[in-house]
Formats: sequence, structure tokens, C-alpha cells
Amino acid sequence: MNIWQELPKPFLVLAPMEGVTDIIFRQVIAHAGRPDLFFTEFTNVSSYASEKGRANALERLQITPTDKPIIAQIWGKDPAHFAETAEALESLGFSGVDLNFGCPDKHVNKAGGGAAMIQNPNLATECYQNARKSTNLPVSIKTRLGWNKPEEYQEWLSTLLNQHPAALTVHLRTKKEMSKVPAHYELIPEIVKLRTKLSPETILVVNGDIKDKTHALELHRQYPEVDGFMIGRGVFANPYCFTSHAPTREELMELLKLHLNLYEKSAFFANIEERKGKIFDFAAEGAERDDIIEDYHLAKLPKYCEKCRHIPYESLKHFFKIYINNFPGAKDLRAKLMETHSLPEARAIIES
Ligand SMILES: Cc1cc2nc3c(=O)[nH]c(=O)nc-3n(C[C@H](O)[C@H](O)[C@H](O)COP(=O)(O)O)c2cc1C
Repeated sequence: MNIWQELPKPFLVLAPMEGVTDIIFRQVIAHAGRPDLFFTEFTNVSSYASEKGRANALERLQITPTDKPIIAQIWGKDPAHFAETAEALESLGFSGVDLNFGCPDKHVNKAGGGAAMIQNPNLATECYQNARKSTNLPVSIKTRLGWNKPEEYQEWLSTLLNQHPAALTVHLRTKKEMSKVPAHYELIPEIVKLRTKLSPETILVVNGDIKDKTHALELHRQYPEVDGFMIGRGVFANPYCFTSHAPTREELMELLKLHLNLYEKSAFFANIEERKGKIFDFAAEGAERDDIIEDYHLAKLPKYCEKCRHIPYESLKHFFKIYINNFPGAKDLRAKLMETHSLPEARAIIES
């Protein structure tokens, strides 16, 4: 039995989100109400395979007992690097390896990874097989319906299911659709049929626009053969989405404080503090960004959001909206917090 087979049915998964579902945020979500399964943000296999990039890759692959069971998601285009990275993941404490064949970020696609695999099914197959033979962990795939048109799912998902992955997560949109159109729930019955025909043992997870546990259970009533439901942006609207609890202002503020405390304790912060003169100069002047990123061995790519990562304290700010939301006075409080440049400043505002 692998982790995918052990999960209750239906199960809930926190989607991998670059710049969001890092080691800190995963612990906050575990505190609010845990999903059945966590994913890391995606890690580049060529970064892991290179001397220069390995430290950064390992930093991204840090986990705690709180966010277990957890799947490491990886991306890239070099089959040998998929093998090397997959082999390493077992000893790092992961329950599985997931291959990202769906990311629409133009930098990732230009580098031949993510959704670019949809256009290169032979390479996708080779990467999958290489990962598969290099680890005892279950290997799963997360992808989209196709590149241009939803109908492409027939051929593309068949290619993947013919490899018999441990699990297949389908973000129910094409690469071209990004997140701009509603998820194609209407295709779920056909995808279920395809899974049953080609690889009945593959656990099927659907993803796209699922708000919370209640919504997932509704979908499960409609599509009982789907095994699991993955929630991404639902956590932005409600960090308690895995229980469907409607949080009070106090509960949200507690989560924000927890996030700040965990950030302060993290190795990432310690590392940053050591060099903060340089970083804060950078933040002030906006110069030398790439040099400093390089210096920190932080990945330059990929980024979904320019503001997501890489700038120490500033990188916390995009989380504020998650916690300071949906209560009277939230907008003003958030505006004040967005003006801050350090943890003590933020804490003083929160306390007052
Ligand atoms: C900020 C952000 C970062 C993301 N990073 C990743 C990633 O690293 N790996 C991945 O497979 N998908 C990534 N995604 C896609 C999500 O996992 C998910 O497929 C998508 O958001 C649709 O689900 P949702 O409607 O529940 O948000 C990201 C999405 C967002 C919004």
C-alpha cells in the first residue's frame, strides 16, 4: 500500500503553490485544519542535480512532522535529473514524488518544463519512467487537460494513464485557459471512464475552483468515482477551508501571529538576518535583485507572482490578505501592515 491508496475517500489535498505553500504556510494550514495530504512547492530537478543549485533545492524540500504526509513536487525537462532527484526524495521523508506537467508559467515552459510536457509526450513519458525506476516512492503526475483545447485531454491523459502513475491530478483547464475560465467539471465523467479503462489502480484527483471541504463533498456526491479533491486558491479565501470552518477575526489574527512566529524561527529568516544590511539596501534601492537572489541560492525561476518570494520581510506581505480579510476594519489594518518593513513593526500594529 502506498500513501495514495491509504488515504480516506474522498480525501483533500493542499495544492502545490510556488511562493505560497512553503514550510511555514503549510504549518499554519495544519494548525487551522489540515488536509489529508500536503504538497511542496515545485522544485527544479536540474537545480537539485547541480552543485550550485542543490542547497536551494534542499531548502525548498524541507519538511516538518506537522506537514506529513507530504508529496514532493518536481519539475524540469532532463530525464536523468528526474531520476537523480526522485532517488534522493525517499531519504528526505517524503511519501511520494509528483511530476509537474502542468505549470503554465512562461519561464518554466521556455525551459521545457511544466505544461510544455503536454507538447512533448515522449519526453514526459521518459521523465516519468526515469523517476519511477529510481525510487520506491509512488510517483504521481499533476497536469492540465491540454495545451490549447480541453478536448486534448483524451490523448494527453491517455498517454499518462498508460504509464500507470500512482495518482493523477487533473487541473481541469488547459494551459491556454490559465485560470481565466471556470474549471471543466463537465469533463470529469469522461476522465473517470478513461482512468477506469486504462489504469483503474491510478488514484484520481481533480483540481480547479474548489472552495472548501463542503464544496469538495458536493462534488464527490456528483462524481463519486473521483478519489480526491485538491484545493489551491481556496486557502486564500479561507485558510480554514479544509474544515469549512468560518473563522472569527481572533482566529485569523492568531494565524497571522503564528505565521510571523514561524517565519522568525525559520532558518530562512536566520540566513536573511545575517545579511540583512545588504538585503534591506536592496529592498530600498531596488537594485541588484538578481545578484542577491543568486547569492542566496534562491531560485530565480519560476515565479507566478513577481512579489511572491525572494525579498525577505516583504515576501510575507502577500500572506497578509489571507488573514486580514472578511472582518470589519480589515482593509485599514491591512493597509497599515503593508507599510511595515520589519517583524517588530508588524507586531506592534497587530497588538495595538
Ligand atoms: C500562486 C500559485 C502558485 C502555484 N504554484 C504551483 C506549483 O508550484 N505547482 C503546481 O503544480 N501548481 C501550482 N499552481 C497551480 C495550483 O496548484 C492549482 O492547480 C491551481 O491554482 C488551480 O487550483 P485552484 O482553483 O484550487 O486554485 C499554483 C497556483 C498559484 C495560484
